[in-house]
Amino acid sequence: MGRLIIVSNRLPMSLDVSDDGSYSLRQNVGGLATAIGPYHKTHKDSVWVGWSGVDPGQYSDEEIDLIREQYESRRCVPIFLSKEEVDGYYAGFSNDTMWPLLHDFAHEANFDPETWRVYQEVNEHFLETLVPLLRKGDKVWIQDYHLMLLPQMLRERFPEASIGWFLHVPFPSPEIFRSLPWSREILEGILGADLVGFHTVDYAKNFEGSVELLLDKHSDDEGRFTMPDGHEAAVDAFPIGIDYNLYRRTSRSNLARMMRRGIEEAAGKRPHSRYLSSLTAESNAAAEASAKEGNWWSHYAHEELPELHLAKSAAEGSPKPNKVIVSVDRLDYTKGIPERLRAYQRMLEKYPEWAGHVTYYLLATPSRENVDTYKRLKEQVDQLVGQINGKYSLLAWSPIHYITRSLPIKPVCGIYAAGDVALVTPLRDGMNLVAKEYLACHDGRDGSLVLSDMCGAAAELSEAFIVNPYDTEAVCEALHDALETSSEESAKRNIAMQARLKSRTAATWCAGFVSALEQVADVSSSDKRL
Ligand code: ADP
Ligand code: G6P
Repeated sequence: MGRLIIVSNRLPMSLDVSDDGSYSLRQNVGGLATAIGPYHKTHKDSVWVGWSGVDPGQYSDEEIDLIREQYESRRCVPIFLSKEEVDGYYAGFSNDTMWPLLHDFAHEANFDPETWRVYQEVNEHFLETLVPLLRKGDKVWIQDYHLMLLPQMLRERFPEASIGWFLHVPFPSPEIFRSLPWSREILEGILGADLVGFHTVDYAKNFEGSVELLLDKHSDDEGRFTMPDGHEAAVDAFPIGIDYNLYRRTSRSNLARMMRRGIEEAAGKRPHSRYLSSLTAESNAAAEASAKEGNWWSHYAHEELPELHLAKSAAEGSPKPNKVIVSVDRLDYTKGIPERLRAYQRMLEKYPEWAGHVTYYLLATPSRENVDTYKRLKEQVDQLVGQINGKYSLLAWSPIHYITRSLPIKPVCGIYAAGDVALVTPLRDGMNLVAKEYLACHDGRDGSLVLSDMCGAAAELSEAFIVNPYDTEAVCEALHDALETSSEESAKRNIAMQARLKSRTAATWCAGFVSALEQVADVSSSDKRL
């Protein structure tokens, strides 16, 4: 049995340089790293090749050797790219051309011959790193839209190699894909693989339709294309799963429990711990005193002091129980964060009884900050959060708790576990793992998922509150329904979804793809090449 060589743009870990100059590796955020990371960790016969994220211009040769050693100790082979390569291949062609195009944002796609040139060069760079590494019998599994030319480049060097390629994002309709000036080259590049995988049958169909339209090639009944060199490229759907038990277990870890408790206290879902309640008592007293003195906020005193409002519902069993909404994303325009915020704002406006009773924990980590669209998005989200908080906040309550740090898995699971509702509303998403992680953190209990119908996960999670993420009114209503749903009804909805997620995990997905690759590569070589 040969090894599995995983190739992706980014390695599953990034380098952290601490104050004393020592190096360590930290887990990366994103669906690809989350899904394949555990498989690589436990399969000692796998090697992961990818970009280190380190600019070689910033380090001496000795330092680069040390960094290389760090990665090699984790069976990773780092590739070092210059700033120009990163700008053209990663920020440019991958994230400013392919990413928007593949997500149906063709109007945001920048078609620049210069970044296309660098993209081709960097795919060659990956090839040159792979060539001396490969041994007879190895299987090569190439990931995602950064490396769409690599399968054919590798095929030309090693006609007998077993090559798989998987796309972690959607594949658009042929009409959208054809707008790319280099669409034929990209399709030919991908078809160098023996097995081409997508998250859903629809994406696979779109790919096949594009090959038919642009290359005038037709697949056989089993979805295989025969290429001019005689090898066959099979196309299929492999919906990615999560490590369900890991998320379930982690949500019950001490740290996650503490995080959940802290959020529930801060949101007024449970009586405050001594520290928080003394603060609340102090501010309540100050508010009352101030109101009596006729300060600017005294008009609150005759109705209900906002501080009291918050403390009351937890301590005195107000008819409206306090609730927590959560979301976890990379700050990416495909995730629909501004659209979601507008729907939340609409809900606060339409159902004012939620004021003081619902808190939205918005975890959104900046991503791809060297691409202009992402910079603008960050500004837009910052502004919207500020506006909503400014407009609706009471004295001791803000509707949105906004966190832009990337958190490790335990606190993330604590946030998921604290959420009565998860708001997962991407405008387009290949799969979306966050929806699945949320359900795993609510294993066997309530927790309502509001889910966009524009992501791959919607096909598997039909019991969720499914919405069109562009429809502000519909998201507002779904959110309201999800908040109002009884705990019993919510737990009942989750049973079927959780059972599905438990049986189709990240591990079964990896194993399924690799075994399908073994089969098709075998058939292809015995039928066509020997
Ligand atoms: P994408 O791959 O487009 O980022 P997914 O939902 O498929 O979207 O996967 C995102 C992965 O990254 C999940 O495992 C999620 O837990 C993790 N993640 C996303 N945002 C954050 C964040 N702000 N902090 C920590 N982990 C995050
Ligand atoms: C998506 C892509 C991955 C990528 C991840 C994070 O999941 O499919 O290939 O690694 O986003 O994006 P980044 O650009 O930070 O690697």
